[in-house]
Amino acid sequence: MSALAPPSSEPVVAVDRVTVRARSRTLLDGISIDFSARSLTAVVGPSGCGKTTFIRTLNRMVDLTPGLRVEGEVRYLGQNIYARGVNPVVVRRRMGMVFQRPTVFPISIFENAAFGLRLVRANEDEIDTAVTEALERAGLWEEVKANLDGPALSLSGGQQQRLCIARALAVRPRVLLLDEPTSALDPAATQRVESTLQRLKDDIVVILVTHNVGQAARVSDRVAFLHSGRLVEVGPTAEILERPREKLTEQFITGRFG
Ligand SMILES: Nc1ncnc2c1ncn2[C@@H]1O[C@H](COP(=O)(O)OP(=O)(O)O)[C@@H](O)[C@H]1O
Ligand SMILES: [Mg+2]
Repeated sequence: MSALAPPSSEPVVAVDRVTVRARSRTLLDGISIDFSARSLTAVVGPSGCGKTTFIRTLNRMVDLTPGLRVEGEVRYLGQNIYARGVNPVVVRRRMGMVFQRPTVFPISIFENAAFGLRLVRANEDEIDTAVTEALERAGLWEEVKANLDGPALSLSGGQQQRLCIARALAVRPRVLLLDEPTSALDPAATQRVESTLQRLKDDIVVILVTHNVGQAARVSDRVAFLHSGRLVEVGPTAEILERPREKLTEQFITGRFG
């Protein structure tokens, strides 16, 4: 994939009429949405509406689920990531993913952050620099710098989640995808992850799945509302949360979904 920066008018990620089908069901139905540089989009919607499927479609993680078929295009810097010959491993490096529960490995803090860099065989100096930078960007450096060789599993849940963010950042992605990253965290740990995300959007595209409207209000500049596999509406956060155009959006925001 090209490492060139796109012209400022071109989105970093363009989702074009994406439909995802399982054997007998349509999980996502004709979704089109663009993501531009330096933005933080919250993808919200009730449980089961397709948020996880959507975010996994953006970096071809969806390939790892047997039986799902993707139609339409997801273009990263203009290139369709579903085109023949595109290596999904490279796609996932450019668009890193952070999950609901921290996926920390039972190795040191340093090696957790370095994990992706070792896979691309970066040299030791590059790894040292990139790990330090990634831990700083993830807002974790001050808390771990004296204990980099300590076990990652001794960190708190919130620290572990920021370590997962650092691991994704270490390979310098253009896009960071997060699937309800704070749903297992307490309010203080949630707040630290949220302030990290707000800083990150100054450099990269952040796409945050959350079922928490309050979180969308606090951190996002744009909200996309999904319902039954459809993109109901997308717009600036204040507009969508305060003056939604669609009844379904209003019902969700005012808490009428279970
Ligand atoms: N591999 C699959 N095969 C069939 N149905 C699936 C599969 N994965 C998810 N689903 C269904 O698709 C819908 C959307 O799921 P999901 O994307 O996980 O929603 P959300 O993250 O918004 O809760 C749900 O009804 C779920 O049961
Ligand atoms: Mg989900």
